[in-house]
Amino acid sequence: MTRQNSKPHEKAQIAVLVSGNGSNLQHLLDYEACGKLAHGEIRLVISNHKEAYALERARQAGKEALFLPRSAKQPEQFERELTQLLQAHEIDLIILAGFLAILSPDFIQAYPNRIINVHPSLIPAFCGKGFYGLKPHEAVLARGVKVTGATVHIVNEIPDGGPILLQKAVEVREGDTPELLQRRVMEEAEWILLPQAAELMSQRIVAGEI
Ligand code: GRF
Repeated sequence: MTRQNSKPHEKAQIAVLVSGNGSNLQHLLDYEACGKLAHGEIRLVISNHKEAYALERARQAGKEALFLPRSAKQPEQFERELTQLLQAHEIDLIILAGFLAILSPDFIQAYPNRIINVHPSLIPAFCGKGFYGLKPHEAVLARGVKVTGATVHIVNEIPDGGPILLQKAVEVREGDTPELLQRRVMEEAEWILLPQAAELMSQRIVAGEI
């Protein structure tokens, strides 16, 4: 990171931040393994939860996988250590893939245009503070909208408020539960969009555009 002024890497060096199952991470790993992540390389996977299955997925793909504890009382410590890791690995792009902790405005501002996130709704609907996990899907069903989806956006200091990179609509069906809808949004949108966005951002980084 902070290599904006030095010679760009041949491939953008990517760190993926995770907290749980890691199905989004898995699709990034598969995308890279089949050669579609042409301008990027997943260098590092970091979880704030020790038991996250995402860490196992990363190791099975031969990636460096690290648990970095984050206490709600001292988030600064987590961000200090995270920054050190990102710098030591010369990371160009940070992907939040089901990362359930909030990053501070100071941290985010240190990496302008270098952090992306996948959110399971069509931003600006059903997003922002508190809309994580099943919450957006519960709200979609409660409001009765007929179309939802997923959004990949650049992260700025406003939760889910940064510039939108990619978006895909998903149908809400009769009889949907939050769980069913979450699964369909992942299958039909998140798992497709996030790898595409990783490649798009990697292209821009190696071209020196951002
Ligand atoms: C899922 O709830 C997904 O909708 C959201 O974050 C969670 C991540 O799941 N974007 P996974 O850890 O990638 O499987």
